[in-house]
Amino acid sequence: MPLPREIAGIKDLPSAFVIFGATGDLSRKKIFPALFVLFKAQLLPEKFKIIAAARTSHTRESFAQILKETIEVKDKSWNNFTQKIDYLSADIAENKNLQELSRLLEDFEEKSNVCIKRIFHMAVSPAIYQKALENLGRNGLHLGCTTHGSRARIVVEKPFGTDLKTSQEIHTKLTKYFDQDQIYRIDHYLGKETVQNIFAFRFGNELFEPVWNNHFIDHVQITQAEYRGIEKRGEFYDRTGALRDITQNHLLQLLTLITMEEPHKFEAKSILKKKLEIISSIKKLTPEDALTSTARGQYQGYLAEEKVTSNSQTETYALTKLTIENPRWQSVPFYLRTGKKLEGNVTSIIIQFKEKGHKIFENFWEKPLPNHITLQIQPNEGIGIRLVAKKPGLTTQLEPVDMEFCYKTSFDVPQPDAYERLLLDIVLGDQSLFLSQDIIEESWKVIDPIRQVWDSGKPKLSLYKPGSWGPKEAADLIEKDGRQWLAPLLTICKI
Ligand code: BG6
Repeated sequence: MPLPREIAGIKDLPSAFVIFGATGDLSRKKIFPALFVLFKAQLLPEKFKIIAAARTSHTRESFAQILKETIEVKDKSWNNFTQKIDYLSADIAENKNLQELSRLLEDFEEKSNVCIKRIFHMAVSPAIYQKALENLGRNGLHLGCTTHGSRARIVVEKPFGTDLKTSQEIHTKLTKYFDQDQIYRIDHYLGKETVQNIFAFRFGNELFEPVWNNHFIDHVQITQAEYRGIEKRGEFYDRTGALRDITQNHLLQLLTLITMEEPHKFEAKSILKKKLEIISSIKKLTPEDALTSTARGQYQGYLAEEKVTSNSQTETYALTKLTIENPRWQSVPFYLRTGKKLEGNVTSIIIQFKEKGHKIFENFWEKPLPNHITLQIQPNEGIGIRLVAKKPGLTTQLEPVDMEFCYKTSFDVPQPDAYERLLLDIVLGDQSLFLSQDIIEESWKVIDPIRQVWDSGKPKLSLYKPGSWGPKEAADLIEKDGRQWLAPLLTICKI
């Protein structure tokens, strides 16, 4: 089958992917598996090389062995794939062995007899970003194949800093060596198929836009809940917490996609412009608001996790109620919650419509039944619409029913992992699914005031039971507004 127009040219984009932090979790669990899938699907350039760089020393073979723990290898393409990988023991933060990296890249260029696009993926702790970027530049690695003006690309991962100030510092370092069009800032949620479908749902259908506003929508709930705890990531997580780890990026991005205006064109510049507009319109919480519009918790047993400080006040659960100051969304609350070790594993967006209580039915229900739209990002990906229907029978009885679209049943194709899409776009040079610095800064402006209040010890950090739905304060907060949590009540596409 011919490749779709937008990816057809990939074969002719000679590239070298340099992955710093190649032995880390992100590389092993996400980046390398995605590259392998792209390789098998012949969706990588003809002239392509991966340089896996990390501090530990390895041979290509011993490194490939490590990768096998996270990659399912069934066919002989694995050997061909590993031949594309060079392992380099180097320390980017300490400027060790980067000259050797330069040599490997030049060598590849010489052998390929072509100018190669250098792609540097920083899969390292964001804490060393600044040093790493400085060393990259100091060694002239960003210059790429200067004779033909092929400009390198740099890929950075969330969280971008720990607050507005540090995100600006990273940005200053990045732009010392790279221009905007060379910088790819990943929030992997934007690569998820179901997240991309929010665009199609909103702007590809005529049905929903007319009611997508404060005249019809009562409120929106965005939930990212995980069964698992922090696993082996204590060192990173204890410094970060749920608000910075998830709310600042994944949840605010979901909020943006649900609320932004339609871009003029389906391309990076227009999309980023509309995203920036909406994210700048989120009302910043005052310290008083932060006390009444947020809740935080920590799962019982967190303090016993590896590399967590013994009296840690880090939250593993965060709830934030936000509003948007523009005519379309004025006074619609958005409840954003995220937590580890919760009862359910679900990411969803639930839009609850206003129920005006149509008079003709007032004798047929105990209380009005509002419509809902559920966009289920994972698992059991799909979209559900809750309607009211007449129950079959000789009397008039109204009951809620669900209409569902489930990816699994509607499309008989596997869903690509977010990283497959994002890495492909990086090679192609398409920035539509990546973030801009403006958007990141606006996100920190929403988060920083909350963080400051939380760091002063308020509201209280409540403990919650693993396997529950988080601290009682989170339920109290929404109930005080006369509402209730709907996920997982409205979880859809159950198998
Ligand atoms: C990452 C967070 O960005 O997203 C993790 O650092 C979290 O803490 C993960 O577990 C969740 O991603 P996904 O794709 O599994 O929902």
